[in-house]
Amino acid sequence: MRIGKKWFKSLVLVVGVGLLVSACGSGGQQSSGTGASGSGSSSGADEKVYVVGTDAAYPPFQMLEADKISGHDIDVMNAIAEAGGFKIEWKNTGWDPLFDGLDKGTVDIGISSITITDKRKEKYDFSEPYFEANQLILVAEDSPVTKLADLKGMKIGVQAATTGEEVVKKAFGDTYQGLMGYDDMPSSVDDFFNGRVDAVVGDNGVLQYYVKKIQDKKFKLIKDDSFEKEYYGIMVKKGNTDALNKVNEGLKKIKENGKLQEIYNQYFGTN
Ligand code: ARG
Repeated sequence: MRIGKKWFKSLVLVVGVGLLVSACGSGGQQSSGTGASGSGSSSGADEKVYVVGTDAAYPPFQMLEADKISGHDIDVMNAIAEAGGFKIEWKNTGWDPLFDGLDKGTVDIGISSITITDKRKEKYDFSEPYFEANQLILVAEDSPVTKLADLKGMKIGVQAATTGEEVVKKAFGDTYQGLMGYDDMPSSVDDFFNGRVDAVVGDNGVLQYYVKKIQDKKFKLIKDDSFEKEYYGIMVKKGNTDALNKVNEGLKKIKENGKLQEIYNQYFGTN
């Protein structure tokens, strides 16, 4: 069963991030004031701005705070663009439309805690990984559930078309009646707290965020032995080597200079 968004306003948030590398202190040239060489075309006037799509309903990776897009992945992508010397513009597409946008070319780059999977690799290309994750099961504290198989017969909330949905389908079949696929993650968690589903299966970082945030609710998180390590990658349409190379170049730099780790520590502490 597929459950639509309850609250999602199709807000297209475009945050122009003027991230042309400012070369200060690193021996580069100033981008203005020193006289561009040659034909006098103003610097960067026709420079490509890469549209970056995300589903900003996935805290603390990507979220909306006072209509402003923020989070771990947002900081990572901004840092990559800065390090790679290219400009980006943000678009809060939602989850399914992010993939559509890449297909249609309205989105150049997708960053949204997207797990690198073989299936997705058929249609898209991924950057090097930037984050390690795994699935977790969210259940009530007094639930007898200790592993995935124990959820059999129960109503399980997932975000549709995610790896969380995949593990549930793998365990109970593609047509499992209790599988409730939501368009976005917060709706599945809401329905769990409202008692409309018995469990939620989803990425550890997000479920841990909710556990921390809503302290008066009694629940626990369970890791099943079958849950494999997942790696988040930044996604482009298959064959878009221009965008992919730029992303990988920037990513390599922020891995080497400690910026990626710094952003991680900011959101997830040091351990
Ligand atoms: N990591 C999971 C996947 O790739 C879930 C990602 C969902 N991301 C989001 N922004 N809603 O399938």
